[in-house]
Amino acid sequence: MARILTGIQSSGKPHLGNILGAMKPAIDLSNDPQNESFFFIADLHSLITIKDPQTRIDNTNAVAAAWLACGFNTEQNTFYRQSRIPEVCEMNWYLNCFAPFPMLANAHSFKDKSDRLSDVNAGLFTYPVLMACDILMYDANVVPVGKDQRQHLEITRDIANAFNNQYGEETFVIPEAQIGKEVMTIPGIDGQKMSKTYANTIDIFQADKPLRKNIMKIVTDSTPLEEPKDPDNDITFSLYSILADENQVEEMRQNYLGGNYGYGHAKQALYELILEKFAKERETYNYYMENPDLLEKELVKGEEKARVVAKDVLKRVKSTLGFI
Ligand code: TRP
Repeated sequence: MARILTGIQSSGKPHLGNILGAMKPAIDLSNDPQNESFFFIADLHSLITIKDPQTRIDNTNAVAAAWLACGFNTEQNTFYRQSRIPEVCEMNWYLNCFAPFPMLANAHSFKDKSDRLSDVNAGLFTYPVLMACDILMYDANVVPVGKDQRQHLEITRDIANAFNNQYGEETFVIPEAQIGKEVMTIPGIDGQKMSKTYANTIDIFQADKPLRKNIMKIVTDSTPLEEPKDPDNDITFSLYSILADENQVEEMRQNYLGGNYGYGHAKQALYELILEKFAKERETYNYYMENPDLLEKELVKGEEKARVVAKDVLKRVKSTLGFI
C-alpha cells in the first residue's frame, strides 16, 4: 500500500487548469484501493501572499469544495486544512534547523522574487521547508505534483536524507515525486498557460452568465465569419479538444475548415460543453459552498485522522532530537 499525499495552496479559486492538471489526476490515484491518500489545503502557505483572513477562508473553502466536487472520497482517505494540524508548525522549526541557506536561496519559489528582496518575507524563503514538513509529517510515499514542484520535492528528500543520515536511523520515510505528465498544457483565455498569475483562467464553478461572458472573452484572430479558420491555431478549439470526445472534436474541426462558422459559435459550443461535462462537479461545489457547515464537517473529520498521524511522527522526531 502506498500513501499518496498532495496539497493545493489556497491562494486563489481553483480553475480549469488546476482541475485537469492536478486535482483529477490525484483523485484517480486516490481511487486505487491499493492507495491511501492524504489531500489537504495548504492554507498556511497561502499566508505568505494573502493577508486578508476572509479572502483566505473563502479560497480555502473553494479549494476544499473543489476537491469534493471532483470526487475525492473522504471516507477512505484523509482530507484536511494544513493549519488545523498545528504540529506542522512545530515540525517546521525542527526542519528549518536542517535546511542549509544556499539550498533555500536556490529554490525557484524564492529566486523568482529575489530581484525585489523587500517583497520577500521569511515565509517565502522557507516555503520549501514547510512543504517538506507537510510531506514528512505523514510518512508519505508518493507525492503527485506538477513539474513546477519538482525542486521542492528534491529539497524534501534532501532534508529527510540528511536527517536520517545524521542520526543513523530511519526517522523519515523518503517520498517519491510523481510528476504530472502534463501532456496537454491547458491554455488560458489569452493563449498563455492557464494560471492565476496571468489572470486568464476559466472558473468552471462560476454561475452560467459570468462563465459564458468569460468564455466569450477568449482571444481570436479577426478572420471573418464566412471564411475558413485554422483549428490548430485557435485557443477556443484547443480548449474544446481537451474536453470533447473525438467525434465532437472532428465535427468542430470540419466547421472551422468549412467557413460560415464563427468564433462565437465555437465559444458557445465550448460553454455548453463545460456546463454539460462538469454538471455534477458544479452542483456538488455549489452545494458545499452554500452549506459551509457541511464542508466544515468533512474537514474536521479528516483533521482528526490527520492529527493522529502527525502527532505520532512528531513524537518520533522529538525523541530523535532529544526533546522528549
Ligand atoms: N507548493 C504546492 C503548490 O504550490 C502546494 C503544497 C504545499 C504541496 N505543501 C505541499 C504540494 C505538499 C504537495 C505536497 O502547488
